[in-house]
Order: sequence, then structure tokens, then C-alpha cells
Amino acid sequence: MREIFEVRGYDGAGRIGELRVPRADTTVETPALLPVINPHVQTVPPGELESTFGTQILITNSYILHGSEDLRGPALETGLHELLEFSGPIMTDSGSFQLAEYGSIDVTTEEILRFQHEIGADIGTPVDVPTPPDTDLSQAQDEQTRTQERLELADTVETGEMLVTAPVQGSGYPDLREQAAREAYRTDLDVFPIGAVVPLLNEYRYQELVDVVTATKRGLGADAPVHLFGAGHPMMFALAAALGCDLFDSAAYALYARDGRYLTVSGTEHLADLTEFACSCPVCVDNTPAELEAAATSKRQRLLAEHNLFISFEEIRRIREAIRRGTLFELLEQRARSHPALLDGYRQLLEYPEQSAATDPTTKDAFFYLSRESAHRPEVIRHHQRLGRFDVGSELLLTAGNPSDSYEECWRLVAPFGPVPRALSDAYPFTAERPDSLDREAFEAAARGVARLVKSNPETDITIFHDDWPASALALLPGQVTCERLGARAETANED
Ligand code: GUN
Ligand code: ZN
Repeated sequence: MREIFEVRGYDGAGRIGELRVPRADTTVETPALLPVINPHVQTVPPGELESTFGTQILITNSYILHGSEDLRGPALETGLHELLEFSGPIMTDSGSFQLAEYGSIDVTTEEILRFQHEIGADIGTPVDVPTPPDTDLSQAQDEQTRTQERLELADTVETGEMLVTAPVQGSGYPDLREQAAREAYRTDLDVFPIGAVVPLLNEYRYQELVDVVTATKRGLGADAPVHLFGAGHPMMFALAAALGCDLFDSAAYALYARDGRYLTVSGTEHLADLTEFACSCPVCVDNTPAELEAAATSKRQRLLAEHNLFISFEEIRRIREAIRRGTLFELLEQRARSHPALLDGYRQLLEYPEQSAATDPTTKDAFFYLSRESAHRPEVIRHHQRLGRFDVGSELLLTAGNPSDSYEECWRLVAPFGPVPRALSDAYPFTAERPDSLDREAFEAAARGVARLVKSNPETDITIFHDDWPASALALLPGQVTCERLGARAETANED
């Protein structure tokens, strides 16, 4: 059992956690965003990050400090916290990203970990080998083996109270990612970043990202804090959090600002294309897009970076609150509607229903049916799993209308859940708020629920009175189910 990370609550696979950082003598509430600080170019000074944006923890690159004539000495003499003027925990990366960019770097895992320890880093990182997506399998396997060797070496380096990360590689191969995660988790290392996903993020390949993250999560224990390396765009934080990622790092706020790009939770805008800001952060209240455009380059970059940070931290707080309140899926469905690539990502997440259902709380305040994807939410899947364990008598009516005494037993029939015992029907999630015009997938999900119940009760005589199910849902019902449309009954009754 790892003692540095405690999960306080779940929503699906998303969780609120506390990461204990012993060297900084503090805890970080997760999901958390770590702004990336370039030691040479501080677009927003770290001190301000702490006071204005509520930054709990940041990340910088020890490889840049190690190789810098100007900064290496001061970093060693005064330590990282004084150098950056930031009193909270600081995580350091190792130069692996530079290794991926330039093919080689001039430090070893042992050297860089010692250096990170000497400059006072609170969380350090070994030199993993980032294997990008689309690498061929044998190379990805070789590089994963090398990464694992470095993790095992890192495990033997004396680093005192500094936490050490164990990056998980494996390119775009889910099985390799899962294996890499299992091997990383077997070490005594502390935090588990998912590596080399930046190309997927930059190209909005969220569907593949979901495969990579879910595979990694399968190889890790629930007590493993998971960092998504390079995830800095607020439009995808909700998706990443719902997959069970706890930490994100963002250079996007500064990199995008440099190109005149303005981040929102639903995408990126170019400053030059905007007439008004639909944002109430101090930057957007005090300036118009035209004023920012006309400002001096350094001022424009600084202000854009500040807006980008405001919006990013706001989204992180919104996500934490959604997890606490059990509304992460409602948030995710909104975000999925802001970009088709995110919709692909969300739909892919729903392809792993067991992974979300395993930790999803049994009760929440409300379930809002907001899109056809809602029919595949973990609450529905878990109910279907339960239906496989119910033992009903010889005769059962499932009705979307009023109960009837003419049957031995009578349950409700509620799309998208399917059969619901009367005793449960006023409980979460069967009290779901649904639109009057339900889509086909809600009824199909309900039909799958019926099929599940029939499978575990093959001897039971089951009748359903449904509320005008489409043919695609009726087609999913097992042949022995007697089936009638409620409206049809009423019509017949009127004719009598
Ligand atoms: N930053 C972005 N991706 C990576 C990665 O795969 N490894 C490390 N160490 N840093 C990263
Ligand atoms: Zn703003």
C-alpha cells in the first residue's frame, strides 16, 4: 500500500485525492494542474501563480537547469524554491523530452536524480525513454525495456524524502502500456506519469489517448497517483480526469500565448479573430481583444497567458467539484459536445464500462440523461450487471406504466436502465431526469437490461408493457418475452 496518495472519493473512475509530498511537508489536492515553468522564460512569475491562480504545485525541467551556465550554480546554492520564488512543492522533469526531440542527452538517470535532489526538488523524474505513438512494436518493446531498467535503477538511488516518478511508456500499444504500468507499479517509485502522449494531444487523437490511459490504469493499483505528461489544454481535462488521471502539467498556457492563442474549455481561438471576450477573468474584463492585439508583445503574451491560466484552473476546480457532487459525467457530456474529437474520446471511454463502473459511487444526487451516450454511463452498466444476479419468481410483469395486480410480481421498466424492482425505483439512479423525447439508444439499453434478467431467470414468464419502444430495441428482446405497447393497450381499451 502506497501511503502518499489517498483517494477521497470517486465519480466513475475520476477521483478526488490527496497527494502527500513529504519533502514539501504538504499535501496536494487532486486532480491538480502543474503549470510548467521554463527556468529561462517565466511568462508568469511563479510567486504570482501561487497568489493569484491557486497553483498548488508546479513543474520545471531539471535538465535545463543542469545544463545552464547561469542557473546551475544558483539552483545548487539557494535551491529551486528560492530560485523560482515558489514555496509549494516543485516537481522536476529529467530531460527525457529533450531526449525524444534531439536523440540524445548528456546526463544519466543517476546523475539527474542526484541533481534534482541537490536542488531541492520535491518530486523527481528518471530519464525514461519516450516512445511516441506510431512507433513499430519491436522498437516500442525495446524502449519500454530500457525505461523499466532506468526505473529500477532510480529505485536504488538515494534521494531522501524526494518522491520519484515512474513514467509509463509503450507507445500506442495497450498491452505494452498495461505491462509497462504493471512493471512500474512493482517498483517502490511513487508517482506514475503516462509518457509520450504529447503527439496524441497535439493532434486531438483523444480516442487513442483513451485506449492508452485505460490500459495504463489497468496495470496500476488504485493507490497509484497518475500524471498525464503534457496535458495542458483545458478542453480535455474533464476527459482525462474521468479516466482517472490525477495530475496534469501545462506549458500550453504560455506556448499558446506566444502565438496569440486564447484557450477556452471548448477549444482554442486566435486573438485576431475575436471581437469580444466571453470570459469574466480580470484580463478579459479589463481589456478588449483589440486592445490586447495592440499591446506590446511581452504585455500581450503575459496577459494572454494569465487568461489561459485563469480558465485552466477554473476548469480544474469545476472538475473537482463535479467529482465531489457526482456530476462528472454531465460535465463530460458538455465538453464532448464542444469538439468532435472529444466526442470520439468520450465514446471510447464508454467502451470500457467496467473500468468506470468498478469505482462509481452507488448513490449520487442526480442522473441527467443528456445525450445518447448517457445510455452507456457506468450507472446503467452496473445496474445491468446486478440484473444478472436477481432471482425472480415464476411470473413477472415489467411495465413503463402503472403497476398491475394481475401478475405475481411487477417491476418498473425504465429506460435506459431496463427492469427496476419496485423497492428500488425511487432510488438513484432510477430517478434520472430524462427528456420526454428519449432516443433509440435509451430503449436499446433498457432492452439489454431485460435480456440480462431473462438470461439469469430462464424459467420466468416475463411480460413487458413498454412505452412505444423502437423496433431496434424490441429486436434485442429474447423470444420468450411477451411484449405489448402501452399505447396499444389504451387504444384497445377505448374501443371496448
Ligand atoms: N514530458 C512529456 N512527455 C514526457 C515523457 O514521456 N517523459 C518525460 N520524462 N517527460 C515528458
Ligand atoms: Zn479571460
